[in-house]
Amino acid sequence: MRGVQLLFLLQLCTSCVLTLAVPRVPVPKRREVYGNGRIFDITHRVNAKMPTWGSRDGLGQFVWLVASMKNGSLVNASEMKLSAHTGTHIDAPSHNYEEYYEAGFDIDTLDLEVLNDNTQRILRLQSKITKSKTMIQRHYFLLLLLFTLLHSITASSSNAAYPTVDDDCSCGASSTDDDLLLFPERNEVYGNGRIIDISHRYVSDMPSWNSEEGIGMFIRLFESLKNGSIANFSGFKLSVHSGTHVDAPGHVYDHYYDAGFDVDTLDLEVLNGNKLRTQCCWSSTVIVPRESNITAEVMKSLEIPKGVRRVLFRTLNTDRKLMFKKEFDTSYVGFLEDGAKWLVENTDIKFVGEFSTP
Ligand SMILES: *[C@@H]1O[C@H](CO)[C@@H](O)[C@H](O)[C@H]1NC(C)=O
Ligand SMILES: *[C@@H]1O[C@H](CO)[C@@H](O)[C@H](O)[C@H]1NC(C)=O
Ligand SMILES: *[C@@H]1O[C@H](CO)[C@@H](O)[C@H](O)[C@H]1NC(C)=O
Ligand SMILES: *[C@@H]1O[C@H](CO)[C@@H](O)[C@H](O)[C@H]1NC(C)=O
Ligand SMILES: *[C@@H]1O[C@H](CO)[C@@H](O)[C@H](O)[C@H]1NC(C)=O
Repeated sequence: MRGVQLLFLLQLCTSCVLTLAVPRVPVPKRREVYGNGRIFDITHRVNAKMPTWGSRDGLGQFVWLVASMKNGSLVNASEMKLSAHTGTHIDAPSHNYEEYYEAGFDIDTLDLEVLNDNTQRILRLQSKITKSKTMIQRHYFLLLLLFTLLHSITASSSNAAYPTVDDDCSCGASSTDDDLLLFPERNEVYGNGRIIDISHRYVSDMPSWNSEEGIGMFIRLFESLKNGSIANFSGFKLSVHSGTHVDAPGHVYDHYYDAGFDVDTLDLEVLNGNKLRTQCCWSSTVIVPRESNITAEVMKSLEIPKGVRRVLFRTLNTDRKLMFKKEFDTSYVGFLEDGAKWLVENTDIKFVGEFSTP
């Protein structure tokens, strides 16, 4: 059964990641600092008491268990419903600028080089007004795009809230230089390949577990400048298992669920860490044979060196463009039980996922 679950996990979405770094005694740790201060978790845990714009009651309930193992489901799966403006998040240019909204500038158009730049080593800022000292020292602030689903979720779908922009915009005779400037770029590669955006843009045709309909209409504009609001606010409702995401340990293990192991308990060093000087390698992308699922034999043949802790597999799922198929396809490839067992027993890998560039 474990094997089946593992298989299920990896296969569930063509670009989900799963940490295998699960401790024996289930006590969730919620650390904010990793790697001796090299990584800071600056995202707030989303919780019911978190403030929400214009409300005295806070966020309230935002996540519901919609499928439960206790009720015969293969896994526990939750659904969340909340404002795109909740907790630690990024505002899209379209949040306040009419013309950007109309042109489709959602957060998928933001520059990952700006968001993730880690070349700044020491930065001391001192406000001339208050003399209070803000110091940012020798830390790389890594913005966790993978993790903070909230960020990605403001991405547009082909619904009215975020009109799609014609990719081969032939902008017409009336177009001006300004119109051309407002063409949203959706890059996947930044900084000469130093940063690759492997998260898929949320669109209503994105596949959803066991559904023929895709994730559907998942985002709505609930406050609009046109109706007197000071900004446009969207809200979204979707399964926490949608698109590019990280599975929490509680997704498949009862005792982890009960002990509160949500994604906030995952090790950011494993997820984001860079290799240490003494180590041969930290992460790698592995091309998997196309004619097979990931079995023990396949794992062995890949010859992944000891020391590698993070692996993104590139599989047939990517070639088949499964993330672009609205109908859920059960024939995806993933780990078979013996493959997962082999990985645990013979490698240092703590994190697996699928490398599937959009
Ligand atoms: C499980 O089934 C019980 C009894 O039918 C029901 O009360 C409960 O809401 C169900 N829970 C989920 C998560 O489906
Ligand atoms: C606000 O939403 C309306 C749709 O009601 C849209 O036409 C407008 O461009 C949006 N404005 C901004 C600033 O996002
Ligand atoms: C704005 O107001 C119009 C007319 O009252 C209504 O039809 C529309 O749904 C409202 N839009 C939003 C986003 O509140
Ligand atoms: C599934 O959800 C139930 C609540 O219905 C919970 O008690 C159980 O621990 C969960 N199991 C897993 C594997 O997450
Ligand atoms: C992988 O396994 C799935 C389900 O078990 C199956 O449908 C699929 O054909 C297999 N893929 C390959 C390439 O063997």
